[in-house]
Amino acid sequence: MAHPILIAPSILAADFARLADEVAAVERAGADLLHIDVMDGHFVPNLTIGPPIVAALRKVTKLPLDVHLMMTNADAFIAEFAEAGADYLTVHVEACPHLHRTVQSIKERGVKAGVTLNPATSLSTIEEILPDVDMVLIMSVNPGFGGQQFIASCLRKISSARAMIDRTGNHALLEVDGGVKIDNVAQVLAAGADVLVAGSAIFSSRDYAATILAMRAASQPSSTTQQRVSAHR
Ligand code: DX5
Ligand code: ZN
Repeated sequence: MAHPILIAPSILAADFARLADEVAAVERAGADLLHIDVMDGHFVPNLTIGPPIVAALRKVTKLPLDVHLMMTNADAFIAEFAEAGADYLTVHVEACPHLHRTVQSIKERGVKAGVTLNPATSLSTIEEILPDVDMVLIMSVNPGFGGQQFIASCLRKISSARAMIDRTGNHALLEVDGGVKIDNVAQVLAAGADVLVAGSAIFSSRDYAATILAMRAASQPSSTTQQRVSAHR
């Protein structure tokens, strides 16, 4: 039976020296997407991975690659990430002055386009682009590092984003990223999320499958969430 929500382990919390094994382990454990955090040391104060790692991962997993670009100049790298095999490319509205052009450039390459917002950025910044996107990502921590605390005030923003997407009538998935743990999954889903990113909650646990199962068990998704998620599959 198809799962009613989507779980995207963030490899930022994986053991990079054993990356292929870690990815195989979360794939076996029932992950739906693989969340890949690209940080440029400029938009966020951390450096992580680039297109060569995405291309290498493409060869070792069937999971859709959900690539989160925390970059000042995402436009300059869209072609490379698309060629590397990204299935979703998600850009920050704070870093994209020509957001419409950026989203079109992602979609022209046959990649699904996502837009994301830092915790202090208003949802109004995505109102105009919403009909064009495949995913909206609400950051529930300030991006840059894994293992941070979920910012509780983001729950209200997730609910507002849910209402905004529903009003627009498109089928964009609503993803939440940062500090998602077994004990707050129920609240995040009740607010209307479709996709949960979880880094430390999964990779710091002893049994990835048990953690993913516990996250699914904590969820009571609405029937509209189930419809969106099954359309994605
Ligand atoms: C934060 C990243 C997140 C991070 C989540 O900047 O975008 O994807 O890896 O990690 P956890 O789940 O540990 O907060
Ligand atoms: Zn992320």
